[in-house]
Amino acid sequence: MKKIVTIVGARPQFIKVAPVSRVLRQSFQEVLVHTGQHYDHKMAGVFFEQLNIPQPDYNLGVGSANHGAQTGEMIIKIEEVLLKEEPDAVLVYGDTNSTLAAAIAASKLHIPIFHIEAGLRSFNRVMPEEINRVLTDHVSSLLFAPTEVAVKNLATEGTSSGVHNVGDVMYDAVIYNAKIAQENHKIEDFGINEEFILATIHRAENTDDPERLKAIFMSLNKLSKKVILPLHPRTEKKLKEQGIFDLVENSTTIKIIEPAPYLEMLFLESNASAIVTDSGGVQKEAYFAKVPCFTLRDQTEWVETVNVGWNTLVNPIKDDLKELVDSYEEKPYVEGLYGDGKASEKIVEYIKNFL
Ligand code: UD1
Ligand code: UDP
Repeated sequence: MKKIVTIVGARPQFIKVAPVSRVLRQSFQEVLVHTGQHYDHKMAGVFFEQLNIPQPDYNLGVGSANHGAQTGEMIIKIEEVLLKEEPDAVLVYGDTNSTLAAAIAASKLHIPIFHIEAGLRSFNRVMPEEINRVLTDHVSSLLFAPTEVAVKNLATEGTSSGVHNVGDVMYDAVIYNAKIAQENHKIEDFGINEEFILATIHRAENTDDPERLKAIFMSLNKLSKKVILPLHPRTEKKLKEQGIFDLVENSTTIKIIEPAPYLEMLFLESNASAIVTDSGGVQKEAYFAKVPCFTLRDQTEWVETVNVGWNTLVNPIKDDLKELVDSYEEKPYVEGLYGDGKASEKIVEYIKNFL
C-alpha cells in the first residue's frame, strides 16, 4: 500500500481532514502529522474527538510564535518525519503556516505534494495566508481547486498541469454533519432564547490593527440583535493587549462563548439570522446554511458567495455594519457553488491515478 503523510495544524484543517481521511484510508496508508500550531483542546483536540479523526501519528508540538520561528521549527520537525517515513506523497490543506512548512520540507526532499484548496487568491499579499497559498501551489504536483475561479487563478500564474476542480471538502463535511448537529442540539443549550447574529473574528488584518479591531467591536455592539461570539484566542489576546476587552466583557449585546466545537458551530450557524465573520470557512458555511453573511474584510477568496448576493464585504471602519445587516434583502439561492459534496472521493481517485 502506498504511503501518504498528511500534515495539518490549525482548526479549519482538522475539519477538512475528516471527510478526506475517511476515503483516503480505504486505499492508502495515511500517516497523520499534527504540527501543534493550534494546541488548546477547544482549538484542536475537540475536533479529533467529535469528527472521529484518527489520532495523529506525530504531534510536533510547535505551538505559537512569530511566523519565521513557527514555520522554521515546523520545517525542521516535518523534515525529520518525512526522512523517517519516506512517503510516496505529502497531503496538505489550505493556507496556514503548517501548510507552507509542509510544502517547503516535502519539496526539498522531492516528495510530490498534493494541495487541497488550491488556487484561492485574495490578491492581498499582506495576508500571511496569501503568501502560504501562492508558495504551496507553486511546488504542488496535484492541485485540488474548489472552484472554477481557483482553476483560473492558477492558470493566470502559469499553473494548469495537475489542477482539478473537485469542489470543496468543507461541503463534504457539512453534508456529513449538518443533520447530526441539528438533532443533537437545542438553542437553549447556548443560553439563548431570542433571534441572534453569530460572529467570529480572528484574521490578522483585523486583530493586529488596533483601529480596525476597535471599529469591529464597536460596530458589533451596535447591532440590533444579540451577538453570539465564539472568541478565538488570538482575538481575546489582542482585545486585552489593546485595553478594550470591556467592549465584549461588559457588553449587553455581545455574548462571548468559548471557541465552539464543530457540531455546535454548525448548529449556531444554521440557527443564526445573520453571520458576521472574517473566517474563510464560515463564509462558505453561511452560504450552505442559507444564512446571509457579512464579511469584515476588503476582499474574499470565496467570491462566488458575494456574486450570488449571500455575502457582503464590509469595511469595518468606513461601512455601517448595522445598516447593512438591517437593510439586507434575501436573494434567490443559487445551488452548487462548491461542488456536489463528493470532493473527497474525487480527490482520492486523482491521487490513485497519480501514484
Ligand atoms: C491561523 C492561521 C489562519 C487561520 C486560523 C484558523 C496562519 C498564519 N494563520 O491563525 O490562516 O485562519 O489559524 O483559526 O497560519 N492561540 C492559542 N491557542 C491555540 C492556538 C493559538 O491561545 O491553540 C493564540 C496564541 O496567542 C497565538 C495566536 O492565538 O499566538 C495566533 O495563533 P496562530 O496559529 O499563530 O494564528 P491564528 O490567528 O490562529
Ligand atoms: N469553527 C468552529 N468553532 C468556532 C469557530 C469556527 O468549529 O468557534 C469552524 C467553522 O465552522 C469552520 C472552521 O472552523 O468549519 C473555520 O475555521 P477558522 O474560522 O478558524 O479559520 P479559516 O477558515 O478562516 O481559516
